Amino acid sequence: MSKNVLVIGSINVDYVIHTDRLPKLGETLTGSDFAMNFGGKGANQAVALAKTGSNVKMLGAVGKDLSGELAINNLKSFGIDTTDVLTVDAPTGAAVITVCGGDNHIILDIGANAYVTPEVIAQREALFDWADYVVMQYEIPMESVLFAARMTKKHGKKVILNPAPVKEADPELFRYVDMIIPNEFEAQLITGISPDDKETTEAAIRALQALGCAEAVVTLGKRGCAYTEGEKIAYAGIYDVKVVDTTAAGDSFIGGLCKSLCDGLSMTDAVAYASAVSSITVSRPGAGVSIPTADEVAEFLKNHTC
Ligand code: RIB
Repeated sequence: MSKNVLVIGSINVDYVIHTDRLPKLGETLTGSDFAMNFGGKGANQAVALAKTGSNVKMLGAVGKDLSGELAINNLKSFGIDTTDVLTVDAPTGAAVITVCGGDNHIILDIGANAYVTPEVIAQREALFDWADYVVMQYEIPMESVLFAARMTKKHGKKVILNPAPVKEADPELFRYVDMIIPNEFEAQLITGISPDDKETTEAAIRALQALGCAEAVVTLGKRGCAYTEGEKIAYAGIYDVKVVDTTAAGDSFIGGLCKSLCDGLSMTDAVAYASAVSSITVSRPGAGVSIPTADEVAEFLKNHTC
């Protein structure tokens, strides 16, 4: 039977503009291809899970505004259960994103996401009975992430943590984490070790485990990723695609990885699948909208190897 995934996290609307370079202080620059997209690390990860075929419930919050209503409808359109998405008296989370040469710069106002409090989570304890995996990021209050991680372990379920955007966390949190998935920058800020080569990457992974995380996957941009598999640390490359927009690269990777773990794949196969999901995502503009379906991933894997 298919496993269940509870995503506790952010729901945003992304305001995106493309430019060739970033403006200097005080400069007004002409950009192009403005778009409003549905985003938020939590929502993107939920969408990646749902589009690749997982059972997903989302616990989050949006504002009593048009963006919030549309964001909920967008999640529903992928079959995500939004029963536990609150509508609160605050603006829906907003991310202003500049895409420059394929890379992105993001400024976030978490808005309604701040209302995903420990109390809100405590009132929904039954969700932790339902879930096999609980997926979280850092765009809701940190005390809520810690509270939900404790609750997940109380119910004997697995915590997948994407520590993004990276910030200081209570060390207790890492003791509950079954799998942590930071990018290289986040791994460095958490461990103090910059994963620049094989030696430092392995040291960063071992440091994440020393903090209490059972398993770790560190994404390394163009260098692929490094991950724990049993006692050893393994590496995977990336697929060769033309990068258009890296927004949701990590989110789609995490969704694809969690979906694969739900399906019982080995870490090597799960990472290969997650990389394919992420590669397709970065070859298209936008966040959730760029994430592929299971059929698209299957088609891609027929023609690509990493
Ligand atoms: O990871 C990408 C996401 O980060 C964007 O969709 C934006 O909303 C920010 O939360």
